[in-house]
Amino acid sequence: MLTTETIAELRGHLADWRRSGASIALVPTMGNLHRGHLSLVEEARRQADRVVVSIFVNPTQFGPGEDYTSYPRTPERDAELLRQGGVDLLFLPAAGQIYPPSDKPATYVEVPGLSDELCGAFRPGHFRGVTTVVCKLFNIVQPDVALFGDKDYQQLTLISRMVADLDLPVRIVGMPTVREADGLALSSRNGYLGSAERQQAARLHAILRDAAARLKAGATNYQELEQQACEALISAGFQPDYVAIRAADLALPSADVRELVALAAAWLGRARLIDNLQVSR
Ligand code: PAJ
Repeated sequence: MLTTETIAELRGHLADWRRSGASIALVPTMGNLHRGHLSLVEEARRQADRVVVSIFVNPTQFGPGEDYTSYPRTPERDAELLRQGGVDLLFLPAAGQIYPPSDKPATYVEVPGLSDELCGAFRPGHFRGVTTVVCKLFNIVQPDVALFGDKDYQQLTLISRMVADLDLPVRIVGMPTVREADGLALSSRNGYLGSAERQQAARLHAILRDAAARLKAGATNYQELEQQACEALISAGFQPDYVAIRAADLALPSADVRELVALAAAWLGRARLIDNLQVSR
């Protein structure tokens, strides 16, 4: 596995591969890798000849007072996992490569509207930071395909929309959420949970499963479902930001919508957990 810290060196390797006709997949991450990230890598190897993984804890997607400085950084362990996973190139941008020092970015990429709803309502500016850095990574790597997890459903929806609206020449592939045995979605932030909290944490998935089952059975009183799920989360010790039933494209759903998604974000101690379940009926 090659590791590069500069855009110039990265582009040199990519040009060689392209000249030889190889297709390229990109898996953008913020590191502290787990089996969820590695499932994207595995699929990337099936989708393209060469796999690039980026690890960059992107400051522009963290709000003031959020966990940017304490976000877990484990580059050596990550590199070993990626080597074992058959990754061709790890892009670990050095300071100043993505955002030049002391130069606040003037250009942002933003998908208005949806960026300010759901998680965006509780994390102002977060999705603007995500779409900007992902657009930059697409321009730096110019991958044929890029893989993202359904776990961050709103992020995946926004990135797909950005790619469509800007005619970016990259195919977006969404991958199912990888979970612990008790249903908790794997997340780098699960490390913030104490052992009692870790026991409680799986309730988030269980409560979404209940909501999904009721949707599947034909429930159309979405507001009532959202409220009951919020109450269940509070009883289980969470502080919910929201529970939302949406159409698969994240529009507000009418009663006859068949493809739905139940989404939630909730705090447990200092961990903000998110999860979602898609429902076809
Ligand atoms: P990060 O949280 O590191 O996640 C990187 C990718 O892994 C995302 O596409 C995310 O949806 C996926 N992922 C996380 N947990 C998963 C799980 N349990 N199962 C399957 N996939 C999972 O998301 C980001 O980083 C950043 O916002 C990024 C897109 C890199 C932009 O900075």
